[in-house]
Amino acid sequence: MERLDKFLCGSGAGTRSQVKDILKAGRVTVDGNPEKDGSRKIDPAVHTVTLDGQPLGGKRRMVVMLNKPAGYVTATEDAAEKTVMELLPEAWRHMDLRPVGRLDKATEGLLLFTNDGAFANRLMHPSHEVEKCYLTWVQGEDVGEAVEYLRYPMEIDGYMTRGAEVDIISLLPGGAELAITIHEGRNRQVRKMCAAVGLRVTKLRRVREGSVELGDLPAGKWRSLTAEEIASFDR
Ligand code: URA
Repeated sequence: MERLDKFLCGSGAGTRSQVKDILKAGRVTVDGNPEKDGSRKIDPAVHTVTLDGQPLGGKRRMVVMLNKPAGYVTATEDAAEKTVMELLPEAWRHMDLRPVGRLDKATEGLLLFTNDGAFANRLMHPSHEVEKCYLTWVQGEDVGEAVEYLRYPMEIDGYMTRGAEVDIISLLPGGAELAITIHEGRNRQVRKMCAAVGLRVTKLRRVREGSVELGDLPAGKWRSLTAEEIASFDR
């Protein structure tokens, strides 16, 4: 049994104060009867709760993506830094969303969140080898030669990586914009790989995980993944 107001928050109906207003406005029914008392105890397995006539199914599974801007840490809480959680809608605060993997504070781009622990574990397990593609702006002496080395396996923190796929998007004064695709997700892997071949990363943006693309989602914005995008990780 749980409190009706808590159940409504957990179902994504709104924040605690929004749920108070929703209840006061008589928009909620329990087993067909209007209910305004948020402290009323319900059992989601037994009672049917509706909001505006639509049944609520309890904590629904959510998978969302954020276009993370630089300057935010990938953590659910941090005493000193702004966290990626602050960019998600307030109404989702009670949905137990957690980042799947991490992007460094200075890295931007595609970051997934879910409240489905099994899905997150599957995605992050090394055996799953979800490809990740990063637009990488680098500075260095001989970019052409460095790119050749990036394409071979190398040892990072005691692990051999698979060779990266690297495309030169454009040559810039003293550097280049690269598209680097890796098959693992080790801590700061792209920066470490670039440093190992003499390239300094000036900007890093993840643009793809598996077949899910960041696309034109603006920085700081989020969207839910489609059912097809979620299913693509199981293929
Ligand atoms: N590789 C990095 O170096 N940093 C990231 O944030 C992600 C991949």
